[in-house]
Amino acid sequence: MTTTTPLRSPDAARRSVTRSATTISAARPLVAARDLTRRWGRGSTATLGVDAVDLDIAAGSLVAIVGPSGSGKSTLGALVGGIDRPTSGSLVVGGERIDGLKNDALARWRAEHVGIVFQDFHLLPTLTAAENVELAIRFADRRGHRSSRRSIAAEALGVVGLGDHRRRLPSQLSGGEQQRVAIARAIATDPTLIVADEPTGSLDQATGHEVFELLVDLRTAGTTVLFITHDPHLAERCDHVVEMLDGRVGGVRSGAEAPGAVGTRHDLATAVV
Ligand SMILES: Nc1ncnc2c1ncn2[C@@H]1O[C@H](COP(=O)(O)OP(=O)(O)OP(=O)(O)O)[C@@H](O)[C@H]1O
Ligand SMILES: [Mg+2]
Repeated sequence: MTTTTPLRSPDAARRSVTRSATTISAARPLVAARDLTRRWGRGSTATLGVDAVDLDIAAGSLVAIVGPSGSGKSTLGALVGGIDRPTSGSLVVGGERIDGLKNDALARWRAEHVGIVFQDFHLLPTLTAAENVELAIRFADRRGHRSSRRSIAAEALGVVGLGDHRRRLPSQLSGGEQQRVAIARAIATDPTLIVADEPTGSLDQATGHEVFELLVDLRTAGTTVLFITHDPHLAERCDHVVEMLDGRVGGVRSGAEAPGAVGTRHDLATAVV
C-alpha cells in the first residue's frame, strides 16, 4: 500500500503537536494506572486478568504490549481504552479518572477520546466503509451534522488510502483494507489514544507491516498508541515495550529505535514508558 497523504487524524492539523514522541515524560503521563486490577469471580475460583498494575504511559508514545497468551494484554488494553472497568485500583487517562465511571459515561468518554482497533476488524457488515466511520463520529459527537460526518469520514478514509473504496461493504474489501477502515474509524474522532489489540494478527506479514506503519504515522502526528502484539519485530520498532506476565508488568524497555533509551525499569515501583 502506498499512502501519499501523511497520516493525520482530521483534527490533528488544528492541534499544535510539538511533543517528542519518544521523550520519557513521567511528569505528564497520558495514562496513569495504580494498583489496577481486573478479577472475575471470587475466592479460589477467581481469575485475575490484570493484577495490581502500576504503569505510566507518556503522551505521544507508541507502546507495545507483549507477553504470552493469557498474560493480560487484552484485559489491560480494554481497561485503558474504557471498554471494561477495573475491579479495583485507579486509572487516569487524559487527566480524567475513568475507573469509577458508570457504563453510559464510560461509553461517552470512550467515543470521544479513544480509537479502538481489533484483530478481527469489528466492522458492521451491512454498512459501507464510509458508513462504518460515520457511525463512530456520530457516537462521539451526537450534535454534529451529517454533511460534516460525511466529509470527515471521507477524509479519514483518504488518509488510510481508501478514498476510492468508501462505498464498499466490508465483504467487498480485503482483510488489510478492512483493517484500514477500522483505523479510519478509530482516527476519525481525533482521539488522544488508540488501543490496537493485535491489529496485524489476522493479516499476512506485508499487510501487517503496512497497518503497523499507519500506527507509527499516527504516533508521529501526536496520538498515543497502545499496540498489543505477538510480533517481536514490530514490538521492537515501538518506542517502548511493556512485557506482561501473569497479569502483571514483568518489565519495560525501550524499543530498538527509540532515542534516549531508558533501559529496563524493573527497579521502579511504577513502570514508566
Ligand atoms: N471475561 C472473562 N472472564 C474470565 N476470565 C477472563 C475473561 N477475560 C479474560 N479472562 C482471563 O484473563 C486472563 C488474561 O486474558 P487476556 O485476554 O487479557 O490475555 P491476553 O494476554 O490478551 O492473551 P492472548 O495473547 O491470547 O490474546 C486469562 O487468564 C483469561 O482467561
Ligand atoms: Mg488478547
